[in-house]
Amino acid sequence: MANQNINTTNESLVNYPSHVALVMDGNGRWAQARGLPRVEGHHRGAERLRDIVKSCPELGIPFLTVFAFSTENWKRGKDEVIGLTNLFRKYMGSESRELIEKGVKINFIGDREAFDQSLVEQMNQLEMATKNNDVLELTIAVNYGGKSEIVNMAKSIARKAIEGTIEPDHLDEMILDSYFSTSHLPDPDLIIRTSGETRLSNFFLWQAAYSELAFDKTLWPDFTVDHFKSHLIQYGIKERRFGAIT
Ligand code: FPP
Repeated sequence: MANQNINTTNESLVNYPSHVALVMDGNGRWAQARGLPRVEGHHRGAERLRDIVKSCPELGIPFLTVFAFSTENWKRGKDEVIGLTNLFRKYMGSESRELIEKGVKINFIGDREAFDQSLVEQMNQLEMATKNNDVLELTIAVNYGGKSEIVNMAKSIARKAIEGTIEPDHLDEMILDSYFSTSHLPDPDLIIRTSGETRLSNFFLWQAAYSELAFDKTLWPDFTVDHFKSHLIQYGIKERRFGAIT
């Protein structure tokens, strides 16, 4: 397996995360500490994301999800929201060729319809252009909220129960899971949040049931591939029991 290349010093890795999710926090603080507009932190953060995405195939990680824009992010200043959407536009344009060539499949989750129509089309096109790729599946959560995803699931199931196409007593975790935008993905093994905040902030509430949570004090624009690797190693030397006694 490719990720045996990680330098594990004397530790032997007993686990390899298949799906890693990132809460890329601290861009604003990084910029403010330098007297720069907050959007500069997001620009720098997008470069770090680019490095991490490039490292995944070599590290043997087939699924990466990033929280790029939450349902709460609309409450930010207009300039910052415009800056962030312009950043998505720019990167989707400049990176699409390399993503296609490198075998990266892009998948957006969240309510994309709230964005400008041209941005929605760009997202749809990137998904289409990369849909047959299989080296890395990069899921980008935009206008995403874990609670809102649960509400949508409940609405769909309630409608089916009223129509009589679902029997409430037949519901189980697998059926509920199929209503989530992530149903085609394994649940995240490891969720890393940067900037020292120790909460999920409405990210992957259903999917994180058994995830390892790692909190790193580094602000996202300073988070390098070496930081990423050190979390993979930490994850790798832990044993996950999923509630069982083994
Ligand atoms: C949180 O930091 C970060 C965001 C709201 C945006 C994250 C987006 C990127 C890194 C760009 C991703 C780019 C693409 C193309 C997907 P914050 O602003 O909340 O930081 P703060 O807590 O210091 O204020």
